Amino acid sequence: LYIGIDLGTSAVKLLLMDAEGDIKKIVSREYPLYFPNPGWSEQKPEDWYEQTILGLKELVADCNKDEVAGISFGGQMHGLVILDEKDTVIRPALLWNDGRTTKECDYLNQVIGKEKLSQYTANISFTGFTAPKILWIRNEEPENFARIKKLMLPKDYIAYMLSGVHCTDVSDASGMLIFDVKNKCWSKEMLEICGITENQVPKIFESYEVVGNLQPELAAELGLKETVKIIAGAGDNAAAAVGTGTVGDGRCNISLGTSGTIFISSKDFGVDKNNALHAFAHADGNYHLMGCMLSAASCNKWWMDDIIGTCDYQKEQADITKLGENNVYFLPYLMGERSPHNNPNARGTFIGLTMDSTRTDMTQAVLEGVAFAIRDSFEVAKSLGIQIERTKICGGGAKSTLWKTIFANVLNIKIDVIESEEGPALGGAMLAMVGCGEYSNVEEAAAKLVKVVDTIEPDKELAEKYEAKYQKFAQIYPTVKELFD
Ligand code: XUL
Repeated sequence: LYIGIDLGTSAVKLLLMDAEGDIKKIVSREYPLYFPNPGWSEQKPEDWYEQTILGLKELVADCNKDEVAGISFGGQMHGLVILDEKDTVIRPALLWNDGRTTKECDYLNQVIGKEKLSQYTANISFTGFTAPKILWIRNEEPENFARIKKLMLPKDYIAYMLSGVHCTDVSDASGMLIFDVKNKCWSKEMLEICGITENQVPKIFESYEVVGNLQPELAAELGLKETVKIIAGAGDNAAAAVGTGTVGDGRCNISLGTSGTIFISSKDFGVDKNNALHAFAHADGNYHLMGCMLSAASCNKWWMDDIIGTCDYQKEQADITKLGENNVYFLPYLMGERSPHNNPNARGTFIGLTMDSTRTDMTQAVLEGVAFAIRDSFEVAKSLGIQIERTKICGGGAKSTLWKTIFANVLNIKIDVIESEEGPALGGAMLAMVGCGEYSNVEEAAAKLVKVVDTIEPDKELAEKYEAKYQKFAQIYPTVKELFD
């Protein structure tokens, strides 16, 4: 049996799977998210760990515990966890959607310069990335900075607690901006720019490599064997790509979680010259390009739960019948935006309301706005000559057939619906399988374990209507952008 742990932003999801790929159990446990100032976003690593251990206990409660062979991860990317010499967490983690580092990003992009950053790491600085967070701690909290003995990414904190090994993997390290993505090693220049040393950063592994064993006292507490292997795992997007079979060359996955991403796998290392898409290492040993929007399914959750106050998403969406006819538009920038606008000050907006606009029009606009915003990154990929004819889709938002239909028509590509849309947790379990030798590599595991059960084809007429709508949507942000500063 294999365990995949998806350390998400709203919850940790744990999945138990057997060697044939049958999912035996899924457990999910939530933890709080803190916004201590506008644009700030933090979580407590201690909460992640506590809920992970409780989740693990629940997950293995009624299986044959001796059969558990390996545990691996998918984890929210870019977050900064810092520990002191006693391994105590120094302060809450700054997350991937935290926008406080504008000053540090400007320093990196303008003073160090985008060209140098791109040469050292293959990427430029975005507020959510880890390097500007390290600089923020150095500038704003020097006492905390001086105490840092080890720094790491969110899922690596869990791997550290489980195995005692200070480790990370190439896909997650790619989002730190201190990692030389092409050569898969730490960038000496970036470590120096951030004022940290190689002793403070984790050891790098490929995502499917074993980092160590479960610590004996934890094995005893969980009733598992001491021989359970801990496998490095991946950033949640790379893990989701594994879980949807988006491996090898030229495949595409869209993830609709708190964030929204479009992920394109590639055998070769490549960089978008304008750095609008991230150039990262993939969990299958290759590379990928990715566009990331900061609020995707979270826009829908905000609209449904916080604004109109319903938890029956299906019922709310059942009233949407006029696809392609909506005159209300929604800009989904509730936490600012990363790809492709790179503007932490961008904000959400409804536009085009009239006296006869309905709540349903607005619900529809939210779903469409997220699809249009993913199309923005899709257009960047197309401009690089990448041809995408079909995609997989995963994450909480993928549960909605209506939303998938909107995506198929807004992007005008086929959507291959897979048997399990569990994404990162499933990918994590698959990486554990490869690490334990169940499969010889990630591509083989994906070929065996990921099953396409249906395909949503775009409808010619509807895709044309959405094309016209997208052209309008694309004009809104440039028009209102000045208002956000
Ligand atoms: C990717 C990103 C998000 C987080 C969400 O660059 O910031 O997708 O990984 O967990």
